[in-house]
Amino acid sequence: MNEQYILELEGIHKSFNGVKVLENVNFKVKAGEVHALVGGNGAGKSTLMKILTGVYKCDKGVIKINGKVIKIEDPNDAKKYGIRMIFQELSLVPTLTVAENIFLTNEPITKGFAINKRIIQEKTSKLLKEFDIDVDPNARVSSLGVGYCQLIEIAKSLATEANILIMDEPTASLSEAETNILFNFIKKLKEKGVSIIYISHRMNEIFKVADRITILRDGKNVITTEIDKINIQEIIEYMMGSKVEKIFEWQERDQMIDNDYILEVKELTVNSQIKDISFKLKKGEILGIAGLMGSGRTEILEAIFGIREKIKGEILIEGKRTEIKSVKDAISAGIALVPENRREQGLVLMHSVKENIILPNLQRLLHVFAINTKKVKMLVETSIKEFSIKTDSINKPVRFLSGGNQQKVVIAKWLKTNPKVLLLDEPTAGVDVGAKGEIVNIIREFANSGKGVIVVSSELAELLAVCDRILILSKGRIINEYLRKDIESEEVLQHAIQQ
Ligand SMILES: Nc1ncnc2c1ncn2[C@@H]1O[C@H](COP(=O)(O)OP(=O)(O)OP(=O)(O)O)[C@@H](O)[C@H]1O
Ligand SMILES: [Mg+2]
Repeated sequence: MNEQYILELEGIHKSFNGVKVLENVNFKVKAGEVHALVGGNGAGKSTLMKILTGVYKCDKGVIKINGKVIKIEDPNDAKKYGIRMIFQELSLVPTLTVAENIFLTNEPITKGFAINKRIIQEKTSKLLKEFDIDVDPNARVSSLGVGYCQLIEIAKSLATEANILIMDEPTASLSEAETNILFNFIKKLKEKGVSIIYISHRMNEIFKVADRITILRDGKNVITTEIDKINIQEIIEYMMGSKVEKIFEWQERDQMIDNDYILEVKELTVNSQIKDISFKLKKGEILGIAGLMGSGRTEILEAIFGIREKIKGEILIEGKRTEIKSVKDAISAGIALVPENRREQGLVLMHSVKENIILPNLQRLLHVFAINTKKVKMLVETSIKEFSIKTDSINKPVRFLSGGNQQKVVIAKWLKTNPKVLLLDEPTAGVDVGAKGEIVNIIREFANSGKGVIVVSSELAELLAVCDRILILSKGRIINEYLRKDIESEEVLQHAIQQ
């Protein structure tokens, strides 16, 4: 009857420790379509996909492939049916090379027991070329930025045959240029008849790439429709369950900016590419750094924060020269960094929400040798409220939080240290549209109290909403600088970056 569907998930239920996460969810995918799966942070998107890929078992429900009921008991079953997933949490092995990562699980390239290095190198080169990814197949993954890792993760899943490819926020750290590389690939896959399930919090992408959309809210279906029968405002309303006025709206805040500098960076040199970076940040100012993948944005923030070695350069905080050689130095100088790679650098995944938030705040919470438990509870509970972090308990290990909610924990924990200078690397990557607006407001309020903020983001709409001034970085150099009020549109900024 339903031959047109390659995949049908019917009446899917799933609870974790008695907490309902998916309730009677239906999700149907046609052959060769791009089907967007959308919903707020914690709506259940990743969980539904993990059921489809055999990572979790559903409590109740039916899975059909080409109209036939099948059982997916483990990831191997899913593979057998040609179902592949690019996980939100990257699955690359950092100590292996790009080539080894891509072909790690592919059988035909093994000869006896040894992997034939030359063959995997050649195959990798070909694949990377096809993808327009400018990376050495022999480079270790640990030496690459998050953006490249995302592209490699995608290339890896494409190296294997798939009928159904699931992409869980594939573009979270990709800028527009790199996103277009991915979209071209999606087009090619569609032509081959591959179905793609596309999860993203970037609304403009969904309109560019999807044929149909399914929206989940709190673990339940809200609507499934053709993409051209719905608009962005409606999608947001269905997702959030209420009207959300302008998500990203810029506010002129000249009167909030002081003439004194809170941070001065002088001739900072990180390596042979990223050289002689100089800029100043005023009290109350929000400064953006825009640039392509590999332009050095993250490296500059890391060097200021003391986790990346500097070859040369001076950092002044409130006019005073400050030596920053470690995270400890940075914290005591009043600098905080919300890192791009939150799972590795931002959180202790095994620890609870509470432990993660209080970690950098311990000093303040110590009350004559004992931790003030009342203060801890208050700090954690206000953070959860302010950032609308979805968790059923403050003691829940953060690895069980949804991706977007993990990101909110990282931002909360650093903001609560009350730094003078806040460095944010892709602060709203993976965060839903409702929470994006909230985070922008929180950043603004923080700056209003006379602090300095630097934002790196590949989402131009975000930079334009929150920044007072934007530096353009290209191949490790600042090539231009604009006041926000002089930038008329996203296209103007896009053009400035790609020069
Ligand atoms: N293994 C687990 N144990 C307990 N709770 C879990 C587990 N996995 C997911 N959850 C909970 O299930 C809910 C749905 O999570 P899921 O990761 O599916 O959300 P999501 O829609 O992918 O959100 P995001 O957009 O933030 O990635 C969340 O409240 C999360 O805390
Ligand atoms: Mg998710």
